[in-house]
Amino acid sequence: MEQATASTESTTQSYTLKVRRFKPEEGEGPYWQEFEVELDPTLSVLDGLLQARDREDGSLSVRCSCRAAICGSCGVKINGNSTLACLTQIGEAHEGANRLDGGSKPIVVEPMGNMPVVKDLVTDMESTHWEKVRRVTPWLLDDGDPPERERIVPPESMVDITQTIACIQCGACVSSCLSMEVDPDFIGPAALAKAYRFVGDPRDVESRERLYDLAQDPHGIYDCTHCFSCVDACPKGVAPMDQIMRLRRAAGDEEGIDDANNGRRHEKAFTKIIEKKGTLDEALLLQESYAAGVKGKLMPKPAAIKGLVGSLPTAVRGMRTGKMRSLPKLIPGIHPKLPGDAQRHVKGIYAHAEEHHTELNLYITGEEDVEPEPDEEELSQPEASSGPKENE
Ligand code: SF4
Ligand code: SF4
Ligand code: FES
Repeated sequence: MEQATASTESTTQSYTLKVRRFKPEEGEGPYWQEFEVELDPTLSVLDGLLQARDREDGSLSVRCSCRAAICGSCGVKINGNSTLACLTQIGEAHEGANRLDGGSKPIVVEPMGNMPVVKDLVTDMESTHWEKVRRVTPWLLDDGDPPERERIVPPESMVDITQTIACIQCGACVSSCLSMEVDPDFIGPAALAKAYRFVGDPRDVESRERLYDLAQDPHGIYDCTHCFSCVDACPKGVAPMDQIMRLRRAAGDEEGIDDANNGRRHEKAFTKIIEKKGTLDEALLLQESYAAGVKGKLMPKPAAIKGLVGSLPTAVRGMRTGKMRSLPKLIPGIHPKLPGDAQRHVKGIYAHAEEHHTELNLYITGEEDVEPEPDEEELSQPEASSGPKENE
């Protein structure tokens, strides 16, 4: 059946949804089932699933409530990407499935990843999400002395946490987290974003204790590999990875917490090597992580020796997969140069970022003293653009 052909009377088009089914009560493994649905392209994949359930198979299970990207119930994977089914237009999902060849492949809908599947598209978020949210003490710890009325704080002091407050606990970030695939005990992007919501709250009196706890936990803030996957997946712009980086800065730079996982020193080693060399020298990375500041020779502490030995299997795996250079080339100082002037450019980017970058922390980052470029409409209507704009 040809996909997305316009009907004569309305904008309704036909789409195929390829849904991953799992019915534990039947004792069978998961299987795929295709459903033909007819919808306006601006309606959602969730609308398509509900139509398939109404018209074809009442046993198709999907969790939803608000249908407006508010309740966080309808997290699924669409064409491999974790998102909300009610927020994804079916026409766009069809285009996404066929972007490469313009063909008529079905829209693939699966349950979220990193979570046990209860039935069809319904996952069990208890152990993978809610338990971890509870792990970070998701409530304000005040000084126990309630004021007569509310606690007044300057509005600007809350700006820092507005982004995390937008979280609707949908679990899309958890579903897409690459670290969680490797370490299911990782506290994870949603719970750590929630942790920053309280660490950054000026009314919380136990921020340092929270940071110490999250830094020392081997599955805590230093378990994130900075892959950006949760940032891409989050439908509400929470950017959980950014919140984890804020937790790291608060723990390491502001509170000076030197974690037992060597996370802070490892992170500092990365930035120091990039600053100095303009490229990552893996041999120096181990040295700088475990014996920072001692150039050319290792002077590790006992804990560092344990860390170095513990890193060997990872190093061997890295060499085998080509992510790390082989042994002879690992001698510090014999590091291959990037082509042309690339290393100098990377150093320049580093220096520029150090000098100019400021984090505005309200859904955006930017640079100080940089005027936004006028858009084309403003250029063509200079008079009209001089007054205050809507939403300003
Ligand atoms: S950036 Fe960190 S928390 Fe986010 S998905 Fe990647 S590993 Fe997970
Ligand atoms: S951070 Fe974003 S993706 Fe993660 S649970 Fe909250 S709203 Fe969902
Ligand atoms: S149904 Fe509420 S977020 Fe999708």
